[in-house]
Amino acid sequence: MQHQKHLFDLSNDITYLNGAYMSPQLQSVTEVGLMAVTQKAKPYKITGEDFFTQKEILKQRFATLVGALDYKNMAIIPSVSYGIANAAQNIPIHMGDEILVVDEQFPSNVYIWQEVAQKHGASIKIIKPPVSFKNRGALWNQNILDAITKKTTVVAMPHIHWADGTLFDLKTIRERTKSVDAFLIIDGTQSVGALPFSIDEIAPDALICGGYKWLLGPYSIGMAYYSDAFNEGIPIEQNWMNRYNSEDFTGLTQYENRYKEKAARYSVGESSNFVLTPMLIRAIEQLIEWTPAAIQDYCKRISEEAVEYLKQLGCFIEDDLYRAHHLFGIYLPNHIDLELLKSKLKREDIFVSYRGNAIRVSPNVYNSKIDFDRLTSQFN
Ligand SMILES: Cc1ncc(COP(=O)(O)O)c(C=O)c1O
Repeated sequence: MQHQKHLFDLSNDITYLNGAYMSPQLQSVTEVGLMAVTQKAKPYKITGEDFFTQKEILKQRFATLVGALDYKNMAIIPSVSYGIANAAQNIPIHMGDEILVVDEQFPSNVYIWQEVAQKHGASIKIIKPPVSFKNRGALWNQNILDAITKKTTVVAMPHIHWADGTLFDLKTIRERTKSVDAFLIIDGTQSVGALPFSIDEIAPDALICGGYKWLLGPYSIGMAYYSDAFNEGIPIEQNWMNRYNSEDFTGLTQYENRYKEKAARYSVGESSNFVLTPMLIRAIEQLIEWTPAAIQDYCKRISEEAVEYLKQLGCFIEDDLYRAHHLFGIYLPNHIDLELLKSKLKREDIFVSYRGNAIRVSPNVYNSKIDFDRLTSQFN
């Protein structure tokens, strides 16, 4: 993997280390989007078939990216909260059950669980990291494993923590959830696209991803995988397109009880979205060509010297084994003033995020080692 900045529209004057906030757009994705926007000026060119073809392609591409055997387990969603809500609605939850989440998890994978817990008399168990930084990633993973018991109905968590990139060992967590018959629902928004993920290997019950970060897509479209456990479920909305035979526009009022196969029922209404769908297809095709493994390796290469330097300054950055390389947190030592550093980074147009107590740095293939040199030079 080489530096790919030429494929984006990023100015040389800024240092964008904030893909976890929102990715910049590939020029090729912008082109697809602009063409798609103008299409509506000539609606007579949009055929009945067009309502169905692109969305099937999108599901196929996403299935390839995440190593799923059947693209029919995929659905198109407008947001992560929507995708998680479809899963939450179809998991039987009873009085006394426990739903596990990790500490300071992104709210789209928390609020809905709070609601279902309240409705059914279940409780939410928040799995915290250890107080000290020593062995933090390993101990946090262990805390999750220890918390999964016969009372656990759902473990709803990410692959990496959105604030500091702590990596969760989903394979081992999956084994533990299986042993107690608990569902594993993954929010892959901050990882899928830049960190390898295999449905075939992890076998989660659902994987939900927003599209505008590491999938390099536009805002308001994302992708979901629902395992066969959800094949007979009830979606949170009832859109005509997801019913059997909806391609026959003349017969739409012969109301159809049957849904289309597998996860098609969970796609949002108007999922043929003529602008966003082709844009996300293009973005995912680029990611498939690059591969998440190569992106991860690239991010490691361009950041490793900076990470070493910052650790020597006294910053805490998680051990390589327990964090991602496309998104990681820098926890400052007492002698570095966060507010002063923030103002320096702002003045130099260096874009990062501040999440929890960490400075969140999130590079991608449009970055290079020079961006990290610029960042570290502000720490002096
Ligand atoms: C981990 C994670 N999940 C989900 C989202 C977005 O959620 P939604 O699509 O529901 O707005 C974000 C946005 O920052 C995120 O970081």
